Amino acid sequence: MRQAGRYLPEYRAIREKTDFLKLCKTPELAAEVTIQPVDIIGVDAAILFSDILVIPEAMGMALEIIESKGPTFDDPIRSFDDLNRLSTDGLIDRLKYVFDAIKLTKERLAGRVPLIGFSGAPWTLAVYMVEGKGTKNFDQIKRFIYNEPKAAHTLLEKLSDAVVEYLNEKIRSGCDAVQIFDTWAGILSPTDLDEFSLRYISYICDRLETSGAPVIVFPKGVNDTAKLASLKCDVIGIDWTKDIAEARAQAGGRAIQGNLDPCVLFAPKEKIRQETERVLARYGSGSGHIFNLGHGILPNVAPENAKYLVDCVKELSIKYHERAVSP
Ligand code: CP3
Repeated sequence: MRQAGRYLPEYRAIREKTDFLKLCKTPELAAEVTIQPVDIIGVDAAILFSDILVIPEAMGMALEIIESKGPTFDDPIRSFDDLNRLSTDGLIDRLKYVFDAIKLTKERLAGRVPLIGFSGAPWTLAVYMVEGKGTKNFDQIKRFIYNEPKAAHTLLEKLSDAVVEYLNEKIRSGCDAVQIFDTWAGILSPTDLDEFSLRYISYICDRLETSGAPVIVFPKGVNDTAKLASLKCDVIGIDWTKDIAEARAQAGGRAIQGNLDPCVLFAPKEKIRQETERVLARYGSGSGHIFNLGHGILPNVAPENAKYLVDCVKELSIKYHERAVSP
């Protein structure tokens, strides 16, 4: 999940001097911010500091990330003709700063913890590209898929090929695992989910050259985990609305990542500990649970609470990994 960011004073100190995209595009700074949560709160993995929207930006869309307004594209995609504005030629070259940041981060981490790289799923990228800004109803993207299904599929195909290239290059550059975020999968009906989201995630998973790097798929809000059981991925991410015991039973042997409500970090320490224990106990014994929040960490969380959570997980998870020793 998002683990670097505005809740850390050390991040805000860098952001005061540098705008968000410049931070993503400066490997030195991206590496520094990536490693902050490892040093400060003690997480077991680093997640490369970047954003899912660097792909549409590299395809030619002007991106702005304005604090309090979120990401915006001034000239969103609304028709078949608009697709001509998108170019995927030389995409990997235009995103070279991402791969440079990976190499530098790996050097700096020196094997301390693994590095996770990520991409938005085609559906979630398309939502941002068509809406152009934050939305409550998702009416523009839904108009688009219902009125211009051909254009929607052409866009999703283009994005899928871009994501395959992008994630393969991330793995080649040194990422130890990759995660596909489908943040807006949960706004679709079950049939639309298959047609506009899962079909493309499946296409991507089939084409990843992983060299053993685990692939994590997080379709937020999709509680029918059994639907994901045919994906060629190693880990399924869940948010906090799904019972992790059920997810484990439905996931066809895949690992599960999640599923603490990020707002638990606003609770008193005893509640943080109790909720950690609850999630661990619901998963139960054995390996295959990547403890995580069910979505990104929120900007006004106290770093002390985030660190307390990590400490609780490290302490309380041990008993779920102990093997039965025969007498
Ligand atoms: O170090 C890490 O943990 C990596 C961080 C990370 C960011 N974006 C940094 C970021 C990750 C994994 C992302 C992915 C991302 N970006 C997603 C998928 C994950 C999810 O949260 O669902 C999405 C939907 C985006 C699009 C996006 N970018 C949003 C919704 C926002 C927040 C807008 C806001 O102002 O709160 C961003 C901006 C963004 N990306 C920030 C960070 C740290 C905040 C920008 C800032 O510093 O001002």
